[in-house]
Amino acid sequence: MLVDGDARVACVTPAARVQGRAVTTLVGLDPAVCATLAETLVATGGSQCGFCTPGIIVRLAALRAKGRTTPTDIERGLAAHLCRCTGWQPIVEAATEWFAAPEPVAGAPAPAATRDLTAAGRRAELESGGFQRVGITTPLGDAGFADDTAPRDALVAIPRPPGATVATVTAAGAEWVVGESLDAARRLAGKTQGRRTTVADAAAFALPECPPGGVRLATSWVEPAYLEPDASWCVPDGTPAGPLANGGAFGGKVGSIAPAAAQELAAALGRPVRVVFAREDVVRLGPKRPPMAGSAVAHDGRVEVRGVAAGPLPVFATPYAVGLDVAWTVAEVAGPPVSDALRAVGLAEQTVLTEAALDAAGWDRADLVDERAARVLLDTVARSADGALAGARVEIDAATGRVSGVRVRVDAGDPLDEIVLRSYVTGAVHMALGWVLTEAIAVDPDSGEVLDLTIRSFGIIRPQSMPPVDVEIVASIDTPRAAASDAVFAAVAAATWNAITRADGARPERFPAVDSRAARMLRR
Ligand code: FES
Repeated sequence: MLVDGDARVACVTPAARVQGRAVTTLVGLDPAVCATLAETLVATGGSQCGFCTPGIIVRLAALRAKGRTTPTDIERGLAAHLCRCTGWQPIVEAATEWFAAPEPVAGAPAPAATRDLTAAGRRAELESGGFQRVGITTPLGDAGFADDTAPRDALVAIPRPPGATVATVTAAGAEWVVGESLDAARRLAGKTQGRRTTVADAAAFALPECPPGGVRLATSWVEPAYLEPDASWCVPDGTPAGPLANGGAFGGKVGSIAPAAAQELAAALGRPVRVVFAREDVVRLGPKRPPMAGSAVAHDGRVEVRGVAAGPLPVFATPYAVGLDVAWTVAEVAGPPVSDALRAVGLAEQTVLTEAALDAAGWDRADLVDERAARVLLDTVARSADGALAGARVEIDAATGRVSGVRVRVDAGDPLDEIVLRSYVTGAVHMALGWVLTEAIAVDPDSGEVLDLTIRSFGIIRPQSMPPVDVEIVASIDTPRAAASDAVFAAVAAATWNAITRADGARPERFPAVDSRAARMLRR
């Protein structure tokens, strides 16, 4: 929002601080500004779920109004925002393009549509695994998020905060505090904002023995960190609103309890009920990437991957013509819930270990792939469950250790819409770099309680730290293949691990590899 013309982050600005001042939200902006910015964001792929983009539109409008339109102004302006979907590059491109365009004029005719937005939506669905709409309503915040569409007279239910002694209603296996409004429910619950801990994150499992000539790795819990917190609503005897209005939350909401809770509470209370999670509820109750500890070795034309994980890790076919022998076991460990539905779970763990073992053994990848995989092979390659292929190369500046660029080649069959596919690819690159270098949450080892409850504490890479991402999409008229961004995630993670090993002269055995020079550069 704008407060007296200055952009401010609404979610952390107390109402008392804006008393007597002029507040402008997205709907109060010049319609020509909104329309042209939304069109530019759609044109670059700068909006996927669309949860972050209304705030970013307000920010960019304020920057332009003040004449602050340099690349540094864009970086600084976006630093207060968080986009989890796009990897920032398409948003920065939209800002640059829009600042360079003539002053927006009210009533100017919209540019003629040159894209098939239905096909674009289909590619978005193949990547996100859920319904997704591509068009200017999405960046303007009109994607139909459940918390926006609830009836105004709905009761509001929030998860009972830990330790709160307050009357609750049980539904969907959880305890809910119910009030006439969100404010009333939060007052009843005595809810305080989640905090960031000073406790460091740690691997969940000890490193296994390293096989001779092999590699090993231990990872931490990682929060999917989708931006739209779980929400749903339902009328008595009705069907609950889905928490996935526009995108798949990287698989994070597949098992959300919000819809079942809304339905059960509405039936029990005889009123429409809106269920709303705060960020800390998502972190406490939502699924994480399962931590694991594993090893891999390449020998006698085979790669053996062995490991233990906090949840099932699916096994995927490798694009390499090597005998692959993967065995994961599941072990109990105190911690938050985990899910194998999150982006590239299993695929990435298997790929990073396989690629590192091939690297350690000095095997030439070009000799090991079939014709189709050879078209995308860079330093690493990965294949999604549906057969989409991605190759990756990560450049590291030898002098500083900084990740200076990422190259990705993707064969997703028919891309359907290159802009959307590219946006998913840059988002997957951002998330893969984060998994290897910066992202984890601290968990109490005894109670399993999550200690990092704010989105700023997850180690998500900021826009100014993202290296340039060069995306090459292989032309194809084959059947469109799903989850190319999963393959990108896995290939980029593997390429990153191998690149920092070469740059630092030693292979880190822990993700996030916070002691690598690449990770240290990202934190500057
Ligand atoms: Fe930015 Fe989804 S489009 S968080």
